[in-house]
Amino acid sequence: MSHDSVRDRLIVALDVDSVAAARVLVDQLGDAVSFYKIGMELAYGGGFDLARDLKSAGKRVFIDLKLHDIGATVERATRQIAKMGMDFLTIHAFPQTMTAARAGAGDSLKLLAVTVMTSYDDADLKEAGYACSVAELVARRARQAQTAGIDGLILSPHELSAIRTLVGPDMLLVTPGVRPAGADVGDQKRIMTPSQAIAASADHIVVGRPITRAADPRAAAEAIVAEIASVAH
Ligand code: C5P
Repeated sequence: MSHDSVRDRLIVALDVDSVAAARVLVDQLGDAVSFYKIGMELAYGGGFDLARDLKSAGKRVFIDLKLHDIGATVERATRQIAKMGMDFLTIHAFPQTMTAARAGAGDSLKLLAVTVMTSYDDADLKEAGYACSVAELVARRARQAQTAGIDGLILSPHELSAIRTLVGPDMLLVTPGVRPAGADVGDQKRIMTPSQAIAASADHIVVGRPITRAADPRAAAEAIVAEIASVAH
């Protein structure tokens, strides 16, 4: 697997509504956290300046914009993110979108495909015109991502084992829906603990509120890193 260190396997989702609040959090977390995710809310609120500053400070940055558009637009947008020196970018796992993003990404930006949004169930797919189950569509898109040369997949923790078997060891598997034992589950429905997700072959776990809303975010992050270390190999 191609993660660099145990600490890098924890990605903290900076899901806050202002860059100022994100900077306070990053300062609190200090060297306990080496990898951050910036999603749509923060990106559209000035988060790219923060992303550049995080890179200057030696952090890794995951831009979670879930791109999906005509090929030419996806390719050019991906090239901009690559030029900024970002580490991970999400795209939707449609073949045209993935091929275009691959063409724009170059060598250092890793592309992660979102197979099927985990808020969708079989009934939602039927409503949207698909004649297959979520599990079938996840597997189909995982294979298509591999064919398109995509670096990794975003999956729910419960999809990890089956998809690892399907795609083999080289694809990065990244999972949200992670909650330390005893933490507030919030709106996440199908969760695993950090050690369960790592044991189920996740390369990286994405954790937001259990860290960002903790009384002591740094201690919460260190506890998760220690838990990852206890099962990582
Ligand atoms: O606060 P929490 O740990 O639930 O945050 C998880 C992060 O992962 C959020 O940024 C959320 O948008 C993202 N995510 C998710 N579930 C998915 C896909 C993305 O929780 N299925």
